[in-house]
Amino acid sequence: MRLDRFLSNLAQYNRQTARQLLVSGHVQVDGVVVCEGLCNVSQFSRIEVDNQLLQAGKPARYFMLHKPIGVVSATEHDEHRTVLDLLDEPDKADLHLAGRLDLNTSGLLLITNDGQWSRRLTEPRSLLGKVYRVTTEQPISAEYIEVFAQGLYFAYEGLTTLPAELVILDSHSALLTLHEGRYHQVKRMFGHFQNKVIDLHRLSMGSIELDPQLAPGQYRALNSAEIASC
Ligand code: URA
Repeated sequence: MRLDRFLSNLAQYNRQTARQLLVSGHVQVDGVVVCEGLCNVSQFSRIEVDNQLLQAGKPARYFMLHKPIGVVSATEHDEHRTVLDLLDEPDKADLHLAGRLDLNTSGLLLITNDGQWSRRLTEPRSLLGKVYRVTTEQPISAEYIEVFAQGLYFAYEGLTTLPAELVILDSHSALLTLHEGRYHQVKRMFGHFQNKVIDLHRLSMGSIELDPQLAPGQYRALNSAEIASC
């Protein structure tokens, strides 16, 4: 929200008094005087007028979880344990998932209370690379590389998938990098070759890699470099 709107929404100020406070240097955001009403503030901003605290600002929180198989990527579910059940944190209702994984997929899942950050990460135009390790029932041939790089037509959505990079590791496993996140995308891409995915694990999202020290079900806070990378 714009700072001038934040101020004029408060009972004690109207648009004119808010503008006057701003131009005369009475307003501080995160300890810095801000004169420009267009400046964006959020629930994480500390906002003061003449050292009187109007909003303390919530701490922004960012976590990576090693999602185990059998736990659902949702904040609530009637049947299964959810990934939020694995977090021992206060105010879990403020948290949401930056992307999802299927019930039987394991690996990197990002969880935050910062909606702007998660939107940047998940919006289609970010083209963020997500790397999956895929294990299949049938052998994977070199033909897959070209087909995935060309894109596959998904009739249900009426679209062609973006170029994806496949690196074959051995006869039945490969690394696949996707730059989008269609429904069951990896399974459907291998399904094009009637090749069933029997194990799917996400290794990274952009430059954030799943910490190899995290066992399935464990999580940790992201460090500042990881947060800033998105
Ligand atoms: N593609 C899938 O098929 N499943 C996932 O969980 C992620 C990508």
